Amino acid sequence: MNEPLKIAVAGLGTVGAGILKLLAEHGDMLEGRCGRRIEVTAVSAREQGKDRGVSLEGLEFFQDAAKMARDADADVIVELIGGADGIAKETVEAAITASRHVVTANKALIAHHGTELALKAEAAGVSLAYEAAVAGGIPIIKALREGLAANGIKSIHGILNGTCNYILSRMRDEGLEFVEVLEDAQRLGYAETDPEFDIEGVDAAHKLAILASLAFGRKLNFDGVHIEGITRISQMDIRFAEELGFRVKLLGIASQNDHGIEQRVHPCLVPADAPIASVEGVFNAVVAEGDFVDTLMMEGRGAGEGPTASAVCADLADIARGIQIPAFGIPAKKLEASATVSMDAHKGAYYIRLMVIDRPGIFADVATTLRDNEVSMESILQHGRGAPGEAVPVVVTLHETEEVRASAVIETISHLDGVLEAPVMIRIENL
Ligand code: HSE
Repeated sequence: MNEPLKIAVAGLGTVGAGILKLLAEHGDMLEGRCGRRIEVTAVSAREQGKDRGVSLEGLEFFQDAAKMARDADADVIVELIGGADGIAKETVEAAITASRHVVTANKALIAHHGTELALKAEAAGVSLAYEAAVAGGIPIIKALREGLAANGIKSIHGILNGTCNYILSRMRDEGLEFVEVLEDAQRLGYAETDPEFDIEGVDAAHKLAILASLAFGRKLNFDGVHIEGITRISQMDIRFAEELGFRVKLLGIASQNDHGIEQRVHPCLVPADAPIASVEGVFNAVVAEGDFVDTLMMEGRGAGEGPTASAVCADLADIARGIQIPAFGIPAKKLEASATVSMDAHKGAYYIRLMVIDRPGIFADVATTLRDNEVSMESILQHGRGAPGEAVPVVVTLHETEEVRASAVIETISHLDGVLEAPVMIRIENL
């Protein structure tokens, strides 16, 4: 009889309780698959007595997660505390120092400190596993690291934040404005404790930085991610996008070229018939382009008790089976830094929405600005007339150009007489 794999769980929120439930329900099945039982021996949380719908009987309880990482009778520490620094980082470092494997769902921690933690884990001969940190239940880490190990990855893109996708989907389906749906997302518990991380694109950027490191075999470079959120997207943009044959999605996109790696998170117009356009609600999706496999897409729930517990337990199953693969596919000491391709060098098509006072000559001024910057316009849309002195929306779409030119156009247009408010720019992605 093989010894059980003993685990200690730091953080007993929704995901922590989910792991305990999953292991209680599928303990025998996992034992059959892994050849060893996975047994929870200890837990840590702020409050011991709280009702979580799972029994903590027989488990050693710690209030201090880092102490648990040092002292518990455990082979693996599962970190579910969250946050890039503080007690989460302390717990993970204490676990590695004590030669215990680490499984974490903490995207901020991995995005900021993943390379350094992987170096420490590899030096200590333990695993640093983080399947649950990106796209919840979608096994994208394993897919990139193992299933696609034989491919050069050209690019990766995805819907990496369920809260934003939920908000954009409901804005489209129900004609609601951003703030109305955000309140629902918070009430339903989709948004992070600090919703700024979701709606400003930071959560998706954490996940994208992790995927880019893994896909391209480079050191984590969170600071190299260009980040824009969805707070300026209005009902008008959703409707104009539909009219033009697009949907608005917050995407994370990473690609590699001769100059380095481009990592960007921002709202995009995607063709309405692109597979990713029909990924709706809280669902996530990741599309990878490999040189031999071609294009593949995985879709699933990016958060929640069941999907996240599923991902954490898949990492535990690997450890129970004795599978130990470098956290980022190649040994951490061989990961090289990558140059960041700046957004000025990005080439793409653009949607620009202006709010203008309806007066003769405004289109001519816009056209002159485009000519002066050598940018070609694809279309211009205005519906109806504004009442005297009132602003009306005008949408201009640009053919592919360098971002530095598109930015110059927007800057000039924003100062034209009759243009009110800062223009809304959304990049058009040809997926
Ligand atoms: N708040 C995240 C989201 C879930 O909305 O996708 C966990 O990463």
